Amino acid sequence: MARLPKEKADPARSAARLPATPALAPSILTADFGHLADEIAAAEAGGAGLFHLDVMDGHFVPNLTIGPLIVEAIDSLTGLLLDVHLMIERPDLYIERFARAGANMISVHQEATPHLHRTVQLIRDCGAAVGVALNPSTPLATLHDILPDLDYVLLMSVDPGFGGQRFIPTVMTKIASLKRHIDDSGARARIEVDGGIGTDNIVAIREHGADILVAGSAVFDGHDPKGRARALADLLKPARRG
Ligand code: DX5
Ligand code: ZN
Repeated sequence: MARLPKEKADPARSAARLPATPALAPSILTADFGHLADEIAAAEAGGAGLFHLDVMDGHFVPNLTIGPLIVEAIDSLTGLLLDVHLMIERPDLYIERFARAGANMISVHQEATPHLHRTVQLIRDCGAAVGVALNPSTPLATLHDILPDLDYVLLMSVDPGFGGQRFIPTVMTKIASLKRHIDDSGARARIEVDGGIGTDNIVAIREHGADILVAGSAVFDGHDPKGRARALADLLKPARRG
């Protein structure tokens, strides 16, 4: 979509939906973009529950990635939900375009969004499920007042900007604290965790309370994305944890 949006987002195109959980959300950040259709199909065949699409602006984070054009192209490649993680400043300027491109879930960063209630409402008006992301060092309490308005909270377990970083261990207790707070307050928000997730820690992250588990380089590192997605998705099945 190279033209500016003129009409409101079509709710049928970007329906606000969340995946059945627990769900594996492969991040395409480290996928082979020359063979994106094959990469997407392989991860889907391996048990992906949705796709996580990382949008970076070179300002909020020191990297540049994809925009609505690529989201729209990916939407044509898969029937799975598209979870768009906006690591950008001034997200209000672009939310409608991502929704029209096919985003079912849209998250913005607390650290980049000074007027969160307005932005949350904008995402909802565009027909997408609403998430707010927190960097590893941002306290959970910054979201307490807006939690009832959210469909999900995205807890970063690395500083955003790049794939292939190591999981920051202190985030594990943050996941459990958020889970307790959600349960105690009666909020409905799901918990998504993003960064440094692999076969070595995915079960523990799930057991601390994560519902949606993002994995980039653990799925797309150039070898057998189907098998790698399958290994991670299998670890999320209750039978394997019992
Ligand atoms: C980091 C992104 C993540 C990233 C995850 O800024 O938000 O989604 O792609 O990649 P891995 O799983 O390699 O840490
Ligand atoms: Zn992400």
